[in-house]
Amino acid sequence: MITLFMVDTPIVDALKDVRGYIKWCTPSVLHEQVKIGDVYRTDISVSAHFLGSYVDNTGIFREAHKKAAKVYGADRTLFSVNGTTGSNFIIMRMLTLEHDAPQILVTRNIHHSILHAAEWLGVRFRFIKSTYDPQFESLIPPKPEEVLDTLNSYPESNAIILSSPTYAGLAARVSDIVKVVKNFDKEIKVIVDEAWGSHFHFSDRLPESAMQAGADISVQSTHKQGGSLQQTGMIHWKEKYVNSELMYEAFREYATTSPSYHLLASLDAIRAYMEAHGHEVVEKLIKKADYFKDLLGKKLIPPMKIMDDSLQFDLVKDYISGYDVTKTNIALTKFSETGFHMGETLARKHKIIVEKSGLNTVLFLTTHSLTFSDVDKTVRALVSISKDMHRAQKKELIPNPFKHLETKPVIEPHTARRVAQTIGRISTLHEAIGKIAAEHVEVYPPGIPVILEGFRITEENVRYLLKVKEMGGHISSRDPSLKTIYVL
Ligand SMILES: Cc1ncc(COP(=O)(O)O)c(C=O)c1O
Repeated sequence: MITLFMVDTPIVDALKDVRGYIKWCTPSVLHEQVKIGDVYRTDISVSAHFLGSYVDNTGIFREAHKKAAKVYGADRTLFSVNGTTGSNFIIMRMLTLEHDAPQILVTRNIHHSILHAAEWLGVRFRFIKSTYDPQFESLIPPKPEEVLDTLNSYPESNAIILSSPTYAGLAARVSDIVKVVKNFDKEIKVIVDEAWGSHFHFSDRLPESAMQAGADISVQSTHKQGGSLQQTGMIHWKEKYVNSELMYEAFREYATTSPSYHLLASLDAIRAYMEAHGHEVVEKLIKKADYFKDLLGKKLIPPMKIMDDSLQFDLVKDYISGYDVTKTNIALTKFSETGFHMGETLARKHKIIVEKSGLNTVLFLTTHSLTFSDVDKTVRALVSISKDMHRAQKKELIPNPFKHLETKPVIEPHTARRVAQTIGRISTLHEAIGKIAAEHVEVYPPGIPVILEGFRITEENVRYLLKVKEMGGHISSRDPSLKTIYVL
């Protein structure tokens, strides 16, 4: 962990310290992109009106957006300086400009930004049931048949939102799902939260990108695997079923009038670099990831299980179109220790930061800046840590925390929050089982809400959260100690 001392400039000091770390985590910045030297002297605003306006999509911004659409296979593209989080708010606003009280179908692994945006804007959401793999702590994307079942239950829906690829790297069968949805009703939009897939477009060894698979809209965090600076992302769409005017209107309402032109420049620079060298860049990432997995397979005793091993993969093959092989998700099923333990030891003893640790897993993101020597060092660290770990006879894996969650809330979430002020009360977590939640609790990362306001709290929800808390995971909620929860 980075130690924060009492200093005048805690962020500045911490950032200087971060240089010594090996980073298997976002942002995956590509150093070869064209850079603007002195960001302090070149920072500028919309007052330089001759450059055009980001909010109004004019001038240099319009030009950069157009070029990006061409490179990423879209009809239109807009840049985001508030990650995919901001893009999800724009998409949701666009839906409310188009429909009165719209309804969306969402996968259970959806990021909290979609659910929050839906609540803010009064968009009703219904869940598509998801399968869960407790070993890799991974929600599995739905099969097309499961999407169709949910559509049959909620035929009045206006859009379906898939989170694909998942945090663990599983890509949904987007093109099959598009066929099923459009066959059901062409006007229902297929939106893909492709936060983790901004590099997919540039490789045949990765799953198809959402735009290639025929989705209507894709939102990407280009800072995750796409090479640009932290905070940056893109919204791409096809115009056939998306009204561009409404999208621009939603964007104008939401976008900051003072965007960092340097963040936007980083998106522009990455677009140009990927246009020229995208395939080679992604191939390099895959080579490093292959090298890592190969070394792990050879050196680790007892072997750590790796998610994209063919044996592990058989379980999910009907649900997915492929796997993001630049990720390495390791399960510690044969060890007593948790992924939290391993992630923490890697950071503290070896100055290695992983993308995510969980109860049984550690997720490594192969980044553009990692070197083969960083990979060697990481494998040596893992071998050394695993020597001090204990073999588990039979490790208890926490089952699906979402198992008994209904597809539909008992009370619409925005109403639950409002009425909680009059009829809500504080409860212990155990006493809250069976009651309706009036707040929302998640484990971060991955930022997928486990308890959601308006939904009934289940035993599985509570068991999972308490275990994560006990083992050192980070809880994001009003009371992160998990002593209390607000219920109706
Ligand atoms: C599936 C998914 N969507 C959206 C986001 C938010 O992306 P950003 O951090 O770019 O706002 C994340 C963040 O991890 C995510 O995992």
